[in-house]
Amino acid sequence: MKTFSPIKEGKVREVYDNEDTLIIVATDRISAFDVILKNKVTKKGAILTQMSKFWFDFTKDIVPNHMVSTDVKDMPEFFQQEQYNGNSMMCKKLEMLPVECIVRGYITGSGWESYKKDGTVCGIKLPEGLQESDKLPEPIYTPTTKAEIGDHDEHISFEESVEILEKLYPGKGRDYATQIKDCTINLYKKCAEYALSKGIIIADTKFEFGLDENGNVVIGDEMLTPDSSRFWPLDGYKPGQGQPSFDKQFVRDWLKANPESDYLLPEEVVTKTVNKYEEAYELLTGKKFEK
Ligand SMILES: Nc1ncnc2c1ncn2[C@@H]1O[C@H](COP(=O)(O)OP(=O)(O)O)[C@@H](O)[C@H]1O
Ligand SMILES: [Mg+2]
Repeated sequence: MKTFSPIKEGKVREVYDNEDTLIIVATDRISAFDVILKNKVTKKGAILTQMSKFWFDFTKDIVPNHMVSTDVKDMPEFFQQEQYNGNSMMCKKLEMLPVECIVRGYITGSGWESYKKDGTVCGIKLPEGLQESDKLPEPIYTPTTKAEIGDHDEHISFEESVEILEKLYPGKGRDYATQIKDCTINLYKKCAEYALSKGIIIADTKFEFGLDENGNVVIGDEMLTPDSSRFWPLDGYKPGQGQPSFDKQFVRDWLKANPESDYLLPEEVVTKTVNKYEEAYELLTGKKFEK
């Protein structure tokens, strides 16, 4: 049997190279405040992979996606082990565009900090009188560069995204930049509206796009998981303050209350957190999570 080792190990995910496909595995690792916690959150990886699958299917009329299969039977034999079952996605290999496509429908986090100072978010002027966590009149597109490991992603304007892509793809920069911007907004609008009807606010999210062998724009990476987005419970949503995180609130609260814990959570906090991931999956898909 051919064995595989990851070509890339992120905080949470592992990427395996398989000729013209990649196998992206979401592990049960969890990070909070930018640190990987010592506990594994059982099922988290599978739930997040299945959530991405749901969104890729849900949006395939807007943009083609890289998903080939989430069934390990379609993957090399190596992946037919329990540890890869349910949390692996075989994906068409793309040439990724070096722009991270962030869209914000609500004002929070660094956006709120910047708005308080000068009324803008990433250089975009917003109406006066917004409160923390308010819904924006229209979602805004705030792309960043895709930084090398260790560097921080930097905010860029739409015009800068055109320049970056123009350098790589002469004559095509504006076309690609416009396509990924329009896609990002359209995807966010459709999915955030749907999620809201199921009780989840998607405050903001990040998409990554690439080119397939014919130069078509395809969405890659993960899609609309709580790891790539801010999910808030609609129940109890109240502008004028920060909102609890749908999935990580128990973790954050406990870590703040226990600064000496060295990032090892009590089992009870882990269980509550698993339940939140399951709840998000079930609300969004209307299906019980089964693995
Ligand atoms: N279909 C694809 N083809 C090629 N690369 C991809 C595809 N989908 C996602 N990627 C890349 O795989 C990597 C996933 O790794 P990740 O754990 O998110 O780490 P990071 O975001 O720090 O690079 C990212 O670099 C992402 O751009
Ligand atoms: Mg990533």
